[in-house]
Formats: sequence, C-alpha cells, structure tokens
Amino acid sequence: MALLREIAIEKLSSHFAARITGIDWSNPVDKNLLADVHAAFAEYSVLCFPNQRLGSQDQQRFAACFGQVDGGYRDRSNGDVKGSKKRGVMLVSNIRKNGKPIGSLPDGEMFFHSDGSHRNKPYRATTLYGIKIPSAGGETLFADLRAAYDALPEDIKDQIRHLKARHIYDYGSTLRNQNQEIETNSDYPNALHPLVKTHPVSGRKTLYLSRLMTRYIDGFSRPESDDLLEFLFNHAEKEEFIYSHKWTPDDLLIWDNRCLNHARTDFPKEETRLLRRYTVSEPGDEEAVDY
Ligand code: OGA
Ligand code: MN
Repeated sequence: MALLREIAIEKLSSHFAARITGIDWSNPVDKNLLADVHAAFAEYSVLCFPNQRLGSQDQQRFAACFGQVDGGYRDRSNGDVKGSKKRGVMLVSNIRKNGKPIGSLPDGEMFFHSDGSHRNKPYRATTLYGIKIPSAGGETLFADLRAAYDALPEDIKDQIRHLKARHIYDYGSTLRNQNQEIETNSDYPNALHPLVKTHPVSGRKTLYLSRLMTRYIDGFSRPESDDLLEFLFNHAEKEEFIYSHKWTPDDLLIWDNRCLNHARTDFPKEETRLLRRYTVSEPGDEEAVDY
C-alpha cells in the first residue's frame, strides 16, 4: 500500500520556524500525521503551511488540533461570518467599509507582543491565514524568547528570576504609548506575569515581556522599572533572535505565544492586507471567549 504520509519540513531560520508541505488542511488530517505536526510545532514553534485554500471552518478545525479554539463574537471583525452564529474569528485587515475597518489591527507597524499577555491566561497559540498581502512590507516578525533568555548575562538572570511585570492592553493599539491612560484606569485589561516563565512542553526558560504590552515591573520604582524594561526589550528584539515572515497569499501559520513574541513591519496604506485569525487557548480556559 502506498504511503500517504509525505510531508517535507524545511527550516526557515537557523534555530526556529519551519515550512511544512504535503498537508492539505481543507480536510481533516489523520492522527499519525497530526502527531508529526505536533512534534514539529514543539520543535520549531512557528509552522508555515503554504498553498492552503481554507474557509473559516477549515481554519477553525486546524486551530482545534492544537488546543481549545477561542469563541467570543468579535464585533468589529465579523467579516465573512457577519450575521451568522460562527464565533471566534478575527480578521486582521486595513480594508474599510464606510470608513470603518472590517477587522482589527488595521494599519502599519505593530510593536512586539505576545497575544493575550494582558490576560491571566494568555493564548497558547495563534493561527493566521494570509488572504490579501501587500506587495511590500507587512511582514510578521517572530522573536525567540528562549534564545533571548539564554543569552542574558548571568547577573541579569539572577536579578529577574523572581520578578513580575504588569501587562496592559488597549484593544486595537499597535504601538506603545498610543494611550496615556492605560496605567491609571484599571478598566483596561491587565495581568501580572513572571518575567521568566518555563515552557510547559520543552521545559526551557523564556523571557516573558514585550514593548507593546509590558508596562512596569511590580515593586520597582518607576525609573528602575523603565531602565530594566528598556534593556530587556532591546535585548529581546535583537536580530539574532528574529525570524521575519514574508507572507504569500494562502500561507497558514501557527505560532507558540508561550515562547515567542511577534511584531509587524509597516506597509503601504494604499495596499490591501487581509488575514484571518483564530487563537488557541489552554483546554478548559473559561476566560477564553474574548480577544
Ligand atoms: C495578530 C498580529 C500581526 C500581523 O494577529 O495577533 O499580531 O502581521 N498580527 O498582522
Ligand atoms: Mn498579535
């Protein structure tokens, strides 16, 4: 009998991210193949499946292979599910109807962050499917926070070992300090997280902080906190830890928010960018109904 499992895995950068061909996610995938994909996800943390032709439901089924797909109706992001009961989808797009974006995170550059770090239980993973891609820019950058942790000087590792930081997010913001109010108004979603976490699958230590969402270190004076965070942001964004993904339409990506940050480069305003996103939470996460 012919062997049907013929996937090829190709590394996209020297230490993480891989491109996998030979799987069509528009149909359910058998469990042996899925085991290979899970192993690749554990090893590479970002997987790109090119040339996929996927509707929302297909992407939702793909996301469900990695954990609990998030529900929650996203008002500004209903796009192709408008008026239906389908939930959880988020469009990332600069397309506007009557002047109003049809999705979220519409324009330009976005600073490094980890999806859901403003929640007590952040998203395990994010899936993003490229539909319309501008001719230049709009790349998604991934930063490896395990390599960043490993490369820290030992005295800094000692200093941050038991520290916690406050993450706060104003939905829709893409740069730091777009909204001056977020630290003084507790209505903005926020959570306290250790600066160093241990990845539950690999057991590796990772930095957990980002320029977009991490506001201050708990228990530090403001100048001390600002200095240490600035040092750590700059460290975690060094080129040696980054893989830059240049999108092709029909790319399907999944990445691990537990050990990576991601960001977006600027792109021309007059060009269209449209991607579809489903996040994946830890199984049994009751909070996982919102952004
Ligand atoms: C996201 C995100 C980056 C991009 O969807 O969470 O950060 O490249 N997107 O649009
Ligand atoms: Mn994001």
